[in-house]
Amino acid sequence: MNGARHLYVHLPFCAHRCGYCDFVTVVGQAGQHRAYVDALLLELELERDALADGLETVFLGGGTPTFTALPELVRLLEALPAAEEVTVEANPETVTAELAHALRGAGVTRVSLGAQSFRPELLRVLERVAGPDDVRRAVHHFRDAGFDNISLDLVYGIPGQSAADLEADLGDALALEPEHLSCYELEAKPGTRFTHAWGEELARQADAMEDYFERVVARLSGAGYRWYETANFCRVDSARDLRSQHNLAYWLGRDYLGIGIGAVSTIDTRRWRNAPRLGRYLEALAAGRVPERELEDVGGDVKARERVMLGLRLDEPLPLDGLRHALDPAGLARVEGLGLAERSAETLALTERGRYLGGAVTAELLA
Ligand SMILES: C[S@@+](CC[C@H](N)C(=O)[O-])C[C@H]1O[C@@H](n2cnc3c(N)ncnc32)[C@H](O)[C@@H]1O
Ligand code: SF4
Repeated sequence: MNGARHLYVHLPFCAHRCGYCDFVTVVGQAGQHRAYVDALLLELELERDALADGLETVFLGGGTPTFTALPELVRLLEALPAAEEVTVEANPETVTAELAHALRGAGVTRVSLGAQSFRPELLRVLERVAGPDDVRRAVHHFRDAGFDNISLDLVYGIPGQSAADLEADLGDALALEPEHLSCYELEAKPGTRFTHAWGEELARQADAMEDYFERVVARLSGAGYRWYETANFCRVDSARDLRSQHNLAYWLGRDYLGIGIGAVSTIDTRRWRNAPRLGRYLEALAAGRVPERELEDVGGDVKARERVMLGLRLDEPLPLDGLRHALDPAGLARVEGLGLAERSAETLALTERGRYLGGAVTAELLA
């Protein structure tokens, strides 16, 4: 084993908790940012051997990485191993000219900005702090600081969002000319305030979502973006590959190390997930111990099945070498017969129709 070439770093702090979110987040605790960065660097030290000498990608996700006290965020970035692509997730209301320049100066090559929507009334439903002008201002700060790889996150299926609202959101996002866009269908995550308040409404509107998804794909493809993964789109540039190289590593089944609370790592056939509790994480690392973890063996068929599920989300055919045993021949014949997948001697790919149906098709294909 030569070590993982992809590193995920979880920064959990947020100014407040948005009702629809079930990521591992910590509200408040401003006094802990320094101790948390110390703990991350200690965990990295303990896991150093899991990483290759040269990294391809580093991804700082959250939570709200850009809510972390700026000197601590910069100290972390400067201490992390260098990589070709270094992404930081950002919330619009946290982005100032100073932050944008500091990230750029600390080697960040790509930012992923959580816009979600440009309609103030829909942002209120999501309980977002930022308004549409905060998103625009943030993009301008990043451009002024020299960023030439900006991604925007949008969600669709927000209660009360009409098809015209969605078209307007896509238009507002495209006007900012991002290199990359992620468009997610809003999910009712079990146990969240949002699901309690809006779960029934989301269930009622579920049938409309296929149409919304098709609108997203049509509009962004029409604007020249490549629909390279179910929910992800990038501009086509002959000089650069603008897909998220970090997320591509997950979809291609590569090894990765994740550090921080709630972070997942997959190395060979071993997968572990750090416990989500901040206090215990800080305590363990201060004592030089690895944090509490859940371990999973992903040997046998587990990885092959994941490889099929994730690989078929991409627009490039999935090489079948080593994966044939994970497929159900009868299911494959059915799906091919319906025109939802296409097979060559060595590869399998979903057709456009198959990609719209996504997970349902993949479930048919698995042995
Ligand atoms: C780690 S999250 C949050 C990043 C950042 N803190 C923010 O709020 O913009 C990354 C993205 O996941 C998406 N997301 C979060 N919760 C979701 C949900 N319940 N359903 C669909 N997408 C969700 C949002 O688009 C969000 O920008
Ligand atoms: S959506 Fe983003 S800002 Fe809101 S609680 Fe989740 S991670 Fe924090």
